[in-house]
Amino acid sequence: MLSEHYSYHTKVGADFQLAFKLLSAGELVAIPTETVYGLAANATDEHAVLKIYEAKKRPTFNPLILHVKSIDEFEKYAYITDERIWTLATCFAPGPITFLLPKKSNVLDLVTSGLSSVAIRVPAHPVALELLNMLSFPLAAPSANTFGYISPTTSSHVLEQMNCKIPYILEGGSCDVGIESTIISFLNEVPEILRFGGISRAQIESKIGTVSIPLQSNNINPSAPGMLSSHYAPSIPLYFGELELLKHQFPSDNPAIIYFTGEMDAAGQKFPLSNQADLNEAASNLFRVMRLIDGEKHVDKIYALPFPEVALGFAINDRLKRASKNC
Ligand code: TXA
Ligand code: MG
Repeated sequence: MLSEHYSYHTKVGADFQLAFKLLSAGELVAIPTETVYGLAANATDEHAVLKIYEAKKRPTFNPLILHVKSIDEFEKYAYITDERIWTLATCFAPGPITFLLPKKSNVLDLVTSGLSSVAIRVPAHPVALELLNMLSFPLAAPSANTFGYISPTTSSHVLEQMNCKIPYILEGGSCDVGIESTIISFLNEVPEILRFGGISRAQIESKIGTVSIPLQSNNINPSAPGMLSSHYAPSIPLYFGELELLKHQFPSDNPAIIYFTGEMDAAGQKFPLSNQADLNEAASNLFRVMRLIDGEKHVDKIYALPFPEVALGFAINDRLKRASKNC
């Protein structure tokens, strides 16, 4: 399926007109969102959408999120089957939340991998919103990383992986949230969180009451097909758990240790994700630090210690477990 003959001279900049022209011509443009950078194409152009799968080396059975300029657009592409959708959308969109809804027939099968549902969200990043407001079509956009690697939170992360594969990266600084959107499904009576992300379960439940969390499906037909348990992985093996246990089970002379905050008395290179014991700060640093450690020559293992199970701590633990060899 892949043509590996890429020859773009990839540019990075803040030229909205150029981004507009390229997208309108069926080309890919990487765009900043408040969560992570996305690899965007005109969602109504099948050839353009196919380029996303090729550039990412992503299997086409793994559907894409539709990015729209406002919640008023939801009804163009999806059936709003439940009042709670509006309640959440009004509270949290634009923002790091994606709604999984029954799709309308105008959404391309290639975007949804042939499923009868569509994932849809309104990004909050001003650059993404400004671009969407210029366009007459929605954008299909997965995270702008190669399939299976860590999501990008800066334009240089995107460039590392997409150089020569796409013509343009729209600059938007480093992503505030730093972790992907929460995916909530309204396909069943009880809403289900399929992916922990930038909006916490507690925030959601405070608005619409109880939601459910499906059991981890261990790669077998996961409800969000991309939620394979091995994902976001650095190339240095990462292990998740309590430090003493990890040291015992997976010995290392020079480990990198990813943890929440504060001083730590342990051998190895330490990477606290927050100075202020702030989970938002930790989330925004997570992928950048994973990439940083991945470039460290002398580190042979990464120990990732559990984060507090509150607010964004769930999403951070989720990403670390998916990146790990032992969970
Ligand atoms: O924050 C985000 O959501 C970022 C930014 C760029 O918007 N996007 C992102 O896209 O994380 P991606 O493709 O890396 O992850 C989207 C996830 C995948 O796991 C995919 O399987 C799932 O959403 N998904 C998309 N459409 C779906 C559908 N119709 N049914 C089930 N899962 C779906
Ligand atoms: Mg992704």
